[in-house]
Amino acid sequence: MKVSIVIPTYNEAPNIAELVARISDATTNYDAEIIFVDDSSDDTPQVIVHVGNTARLPVRIIHRSTPIGGLAGAVLAGIAASGGKWCIVMDGDLQHPPEMIPILLAAAASEHADVVVASRNLDGGSSGGLAGISRHIVSNAANLLTRAMFPVRLQNCTDPMTGFFAVRRATIDVSVLQPRGFKILLEILVRNTVTVAEEPFVFGERQAGVSKADFRQGVRFVTQLAALRFGRVSGFATIGAAGAVANLIIMAGLQALGVWYIAAAIIFAAVTIVGNFLLQERFVFRDLRGPAASGYIRFARFFAFNGIEATVRTAVLWAVVATAALPEIATQAVLIGIGFILRFVHHSQRGTSMAVWSPRGPHKSLHAKSLGRE
Ligand code: GDD
Ligand code: MN
Repeated sequence: MKVSIVIPTYNEAPNIAELVARISDATTNYDAEIIFVDDSSDDTPQVIVHVGNTARLPVRIIHRSTPIGGLAGAVLAGIAASGGKWCIVMDGDLQHPPEMIPILLAAAASEHADVVVASRNLDGGSSGGLAGISRHIVSNAANLLTRAMFPVRLQNCTDPMTGFFAVRRATIDVSVLQPRGFKILLEILVRNTVTVAEEPFVFGERQAGVSKADFRQGVRFVTQLAALRFGRVSGFATIGAAGAVANLIIMAGLQALGVWYIAAAIIFAAVTIVGNFLLQERFVFRDLRGPAASGYIRFARFFAFNGIEATVRTAVLWAVVATAALPEIATQAVLIGIGFILRFVHHSQRGTSMAVWSPRGPHKSLHAKSLGRE
């Protein structure tokens, strides 16, 4: 049986030789290939080529010059390029013991599963190799939250966050997956209908090098959860709502300091537009930035649309307050709410944000497709 072992790497040079040797020893009964998907800035690709030349099994490398989607994007690129009936996805730092590979494949065969998860949370498994108490706490909390949010899809999976699993190539549709951050298994389990089996494993210590997990990955994970559960619109709406509340407070503060309410509303609009743009860029549409128009052009489009909206809103605010003598802040809040609903409708018909972050050039069809799913 043909098996493709997909390994994302980001600066893992000192781990490659032992990794390939141990995979080689573990897969003598299979027709296996290794596919490294590399986004490194160090000499990892050269080391991979060097080690691959003398390896028993074929070693391929996909070096990505534009690393779209980070770790998850790399895994998907590897799966898309794989020729095996099964793909094994594992880390390149030896925290995932290669000796588990035949155990996962055996479970796949005996349990007729589409995905076999190497779980740290079954009896016999452990996440001992996670660095530090804080990562244990975060990991456990994230696991509970995620499983609570997808009680049906994840009912047979005790470790949807693991980066170590086997997947039957034919059962997953790469085009529906939206890679972002670290949690590619979660994406696969939630967006595809698959039968899941599990095997316990001990998450080891990192062999050499440093972990790439950081706070930003944590934020990305939360937006991924929201996107999986409610669609991309939810992240957009959450940021918009939080921004509106923060800015109404600013507007009230300015007014309390004696600033004329129209001036306060204009400052409010400017702060909101810039703040919203930066947050949306960072957290919601981050993965679309690569193929979209340049930052200045995106900002110009965003500013044009929102500037017109703010101008209209401020004019209406002035008209209402002047004629009906309603309280300024409350009126502003209602107008923002109305704008929000209009935008939401517009957005779901692929309006503003899609125009701001829409891809240009040859990537169009690919991204049009992934957006169209929502
Ligand atoms: N190609 C590519 N691009 N590879 C990457 C990138 C990237 O942007 N970021 C990280 N990697 C590679 C690393 O080189 C390593 O082989 C693997 O992905 C995992 O990265 P680590 O930095 O070692 O992550 P970790 O050990 O903190 O997290 C692992 O355990 C988590 C469970 O707690 C990963 O397996 C996570 O997916 C998993 O959720
Ligand atoms: Mn690691």
